[in-house]
Formats: sequence, C-alpha cells, structure tokens
Amino acid sequence: MRRTLIAGNWKMNGSLAANAALLAELKVGMTGQSCDVLVCAPAVYLAQCAEALEASPIAWGGQDVSMHASGAYTGEISAAMLSDFACKYVIVGHSERRAYHHESDRLIAEKTLRSLAAGITPIVCVGETLEQRELGQTDAVVSAQLQAVLDVLDDEALTKIVVAYEPVWAIGTGKTATPQMAQDVHAVLRAQLAARGVAIAEKVRILYGGSMKPENAKELLAMADIDGGLIGGAALKSSDFLAIINAV
Ligand code: G3P
Repeated sequence: MRRTLIAGNWKMNGSLAANAALLAELKVGMTGQSCDVLVCAPAVYLAQCAEALEASPIAWGGQDVSMHASGAYTGEISAAMLSDFACKYVIVGHSERRAYHHESDRLIAEKTLRSLAAGITPIVCVGETLEQRELGQTDAVVSAQLQAVLDVLDDEALTKIVVAYEPVWAIGTGKTATPQMAQDVHAVLRAQLAARGVAIAEKVRILYGGSMKPENAKELLAMADIDGGLIGGAALKSSDFLAIINAV
C-alpha cells in the first residue's frame, strides 16, 4: 500500500516572517493525519524549516539540487548540503527548471542519482505542454522524460524515487486536469514502471501537480494511480494546504 504524500512547492515565494507564520499554522493544523506531508522551500529558508519543523510530522525538502558533488559551481546547492539541513526530499526536473533553465532529461537523471546517493528522495517531475497535449504527444513525452531517469537507476534505487506528473498547462493556471485525464497519464507511468517490475510499480508513488486545490483534491486523490499531490499556489496558504491534507 502506497502512503499518500502531500508536498508543497513554495517556488520562489516566502520570507522569514511569512514562513514562520505559515509553518506555525501548519503545525497546529496537523492532528494525526495519516499521509506524509512535505514542504519544499527555497534553499535559503531550509534552516528555518529545519528548526521550525524538527519535532513535527512535516518534512522539508529542496526545490532543486546540483548534478555536481562539490566544487566551482557558483550558485549551485549540492545534495550533501541539502542533507546537512536534514532534507528528506528534493524536487528534480520541475517544468519551470526544464523551461527557464534548459534542464535536459540527462541532467535531471544525474540530479536524481546525486539525490539518491545522499539519501534524499528525489521527486522527479514530468509533464507535457499544451501544444504537446493537443498534438496527442502526452504519453510519449512523459514516458521519454521518465525513461531517461529509469535508464540510470538500478531496481533498488528505482523503488526509492517519487514521480510527479505535472501537466505544464495546468501549473499556476487554475486549469486542472480532470481526475480521469490525470489518472490516464498516471496509468501510463505506472505501466512503464511495471515494465521494470510489478513490485517496483506498486511501490513508487506518483503525485499529481497542477492547480490542485481544496475543491478538486479529493476527486484527484481518489484515483487509483494518484498517490498524492505536488502543490504550488495552494501550499502558500495554510488553510488551503491543510484542506488538501485533510482530503486524503
Ligand atoms: O510543483 C507544483 C506545481 O508546479 C503546481 O503549481 O500553483 O499549479 O499548484 P500550482
């Protein structure tokens, strides 16, 4: 049985004061829920998250990681550094990084390996653009993105990743994939994992991301292959994020 994961991706939002308030509200609202809960904060706020969330059921993680171990890579954050701040997870290959930072499937596979080597669970994001969907390329696009990661992982490592399906056209737009549309793609990804091993496919969590909010969370999370959410906008407001957590 896969344990649901509700993950917030704060993106480039927040401040010391706003984070303190948000984290305090989330902690108060966490009253024995049965799912895993995570916030992925900007790197400069990970120390704040670590301090605020240490004795709480909420995990914290990064939004990106370097493909390099250490050295002359100005501006980069290594997996070991994330580990220093007790990050359990890190997002890799978010569509915003693919689009604005030209991250390739190959680079994302390297980042996945680095994360796993540091004991951090990578949340590997895949997703199609609107144009690709309209051209009927959705399955091929997400499968190719996932395959690049599958190709570099052995079976044991593969069971340790989380996959997130985030249709690019649904991110921050208010347009959500219908539960069935999301489920259809999740089923394709699950089948791809099953080609490596049924036990692997049963273990790996596949999250949905893209305008998930309190109003649609329950229906999305009810689908057979949707094992949680990667939430942007609605993760910045404690009442919305808690409502999604409570929809599990
Ligand atoms: O990683 C989360 C994401 O891209 C979805 O963002 O704002 O549509 O929930 P949002």
